[in-house]
Amino acid sequence: MTTTVGGATPADPAAAPVAGLVASLRAIVGDAHVLVDADMRATYETDWLGQWHGTTPCVVRPGTAEQVAAVLQACAAAGIAVVPQGGNTGLVGGSVPRGGAVLLSLQRFTELGPVDTLAMQVTAGAGVTIEQLQQHARAADLDFAVDWGARASATVGGAVNTNAGGSRVVRFGTMRAQVAGVQAVLADGSVITQLHGLPKETAGPHLPSLLVGSEGTLAVVTAARLRLVPWFRSSAAALIACDSLVDAVALLPQLRHLPSLDAVELLMPEALALACAHLAVRPPIEPASAGAFVMVDCAAHLDPTDELAELLQLQRGVLAVGAQRDLLYRIRDHVTIAIGARGVPLKLDVAVPVQHLDRLLRAVRQGLRTQAPAAELIVFGHLAEGNVHVNILGAGDAEPRMRDLVLTAAIDLGGTISAEHGIGVAKADWLERLKGPAAVAALRAIKQALDPGNLLNPGVLYPPG
Ligand code: MLT
Ligand code: ZN
Repeated sequence: MTTTVGGATPADPAAAPVAGLVASLRAIVGDAHVLVDADMRATYETDWLGQWHGTTPCVVRPGTAEQVAAVLQACAAAGIAVVPQGGNTGLVGGSVPRGGAVLLSLQRFTELGPVDTLAMQVTAGAGVTIEQLQQHARAADLDFAVDWGARASATVGGAVNTNAGGSRVVRFGTMRAQVAGVQAVLADGSVITQLHGLPKETAGPHLPSLLVGSEGTLAVVTAARLRLVPWFRSSAAALIACDSLVDAVALLPQLRHLPSLDAVELLMPEALALACAHLAVRPPIEPASAGAFVMVDCAAHLDPTDELAELLQLQRGVLAVGAQRDLLYRIRDHVTIAIGARGVPLKLDVAVPVQHLDRLLRAVRQGLRTQAPAAELIVFGHLAEGNVHVNILGAGDAEPRMRDLVLTAAIDLGGTISAEHGIGVAKADWLERLKGPAAVAALRAIKQALDPGNLLNPGVLYPPG
């Protein structure tokens, strides 16, 4: 089901005060970078999976932090809010325009600084894609650790704003662990530049960390100073067939002892089958032959194949090296696209303490049996963090009830309603239930202090009021 956000507010570029604002924005960034025609705006108004749709009177594409500052000041003067957007690969509606807001695209921030091999860091513009960043780092024999399927379109700015995770969190942590500094523009147009990336500094709270995961509500991030990791050229993967999810979870302690463990992903049989069918490839193991699949990846300077081969002596699974490993990753990376090709799912990104994962999925299946027995459930995710992507296709009217059920179950099991996709507009109503009133009041106070006019991404993260 596609969700239209803020649809009631007119987005007519000719309507006052928008017409005056469009003229001001043109003066700041140049005519070519203010898009008002409906066909030019279209790709910015709907997310990549067609889950979220909204309208904007115009898309503005500044090219410098100073231009961002001037854009924010012009929008504030016109009383029109701003929705920042990176690669538009978000999954919770956080960067889709709403309520007549101006869409501020960070696409032009594509600058990549030289790799600092001494500090193992690099400065990247907000519009640099994760893939470009990885390639840039690899040219200097280093790597960027955060990685997921949408790497070719997802951007540094979006990854900072959502505290992106992906498949290598088990080894390197989420985006928060990679961000050493940022350049960001506050709602009043002031520019904070903290890109030195010093590994040790105790001069008060770390503003860059505050912005990680803030979903464009506190500032517009224009660049980030990012930590790099060694580039491991040798890798080997395995797909392990487990009788059940409980058995898959029980594998974890053993996996954590692998010296070069790089990723532990979960593919439930339906996810494996769907991605393979979408790619028209033969599944490495017959999906129906197991209750859950664990994809393990090892990466090191020296060939880690033996580590995995030893593990596989006691497990039912296949080893995947070279082209076979590439295929395994292609399958894993295509699950989301394969689901999207079947329809617009109800997509929930939840995490629970990993020992409760089975209870979570049993609750979801039980709920589906009563609420939407014909719906299709596709589950996959990041096993080591107890993070699953629950995708439900064809739930129809039962979607809101299923959303409530999944999110409630995650909270009740001591988990979270967002492990890596963010809160966006999709789950803003749930933030207080997750964090409690005192924590949300503190977060609102920070928002109020930095953005008293609620200029930046209103409706995201916190519900109105
Ligand atoms: C993934 O793990 O592939 C991403 O989080 C995307 C998704 O959940 O669909
Ligand atoms: Zn994921």
